[in-house]
Amino acid sequence: MTYTTINAKQAEKMKRYYIFHSKIYDLTRWTFLFGRKRLVKNIPFQPTDHFRLLEVGCGTGYNLAKIHEQFPNAELTGIDVSEDMLNIAAKKTNKASKKVKLVCEAYGENTTVEAGFDVVMFSYSLSMINPFWKDLLEQALRDLKPGGYLAVTDFHDSKFNSFKKWMGVNHVKMDGHLFDWLDSHFQNHQSKVKKAYTGVWEYLIFIGKKEL
Ligand SMILES: C[S@@+](CC[C@H](N)C(=O)[O-])C[C@H]1O[C@@H](n2cnc3c(N)ncnc32)[C@H](O)[C@@H]1O
Repeated sequence: MTYTTINAKQAEKMKRYYIFHSKIYDLTRWTFLFGRKRLVKNIPFQPTDHFRLLEVGCGTGYNLAKIHEQFPNAELTGIDVSEDMLNIAAKKTNKASKKVKLVCEAYGENTTVEAGFDVVMFSYSLSMINPFWKDLLEQALRDLKPGGYLAVTDFHDSKFNSFKKWMGVNHVKMDGHLFDWLDSHFQNHQSKVKKAYTGVWEYLIFIGKKEL
């Protein structure tokens, strides 16, 4: 596994956190990681299209399995720092193994994936990549083809500081910091900020296009 020195600490933190959390991830996360199904549904391609998609922080492969169902001809790559999460992703995408490649590394400028993706997706990973989330988005910009799409869903913000603090204990930053950056670096194809549990927090869905 290769880590850039700049984010080695963050990667180690994630690896440690998911040793336990990988075991309860799929059982628990559907109750609060909203927006994932909608993001996959709204990937701007036709079901039979051939395209290349990278998911950064693919975790247990929840999205990759759904993307393969919806776009069986797409070539999918999932990157994650946590071997424990990827082991679950490998089982989940086993039947689609010709179309799904899993890479265990911290995403960044030393990434081993071949650039030229039609879609780069971040689903609830950016809010955990602190303070380097901008570096990873800039890498995604380099790895996208001109005219390619960035697809993001993540926590946006909360008016309850105690909730934000609790999320911080779980390595999540939710300070409304992602949306403006995304909106100013990509042509906005589609975006929404939605309330979770009638406003305990908000989450975002953003699909943006890299300039041609
Ligand atoms: C909350 S999970 C999201 C998993 C999946 N995308 C989903 O929507 O269910 C965040 C994932 O990002 C991964 N991750 C965190 N930092 C990373 C980094 N620098 N490079 C690659 N993956 C990272 C974690 O290991 C974890 O599996």
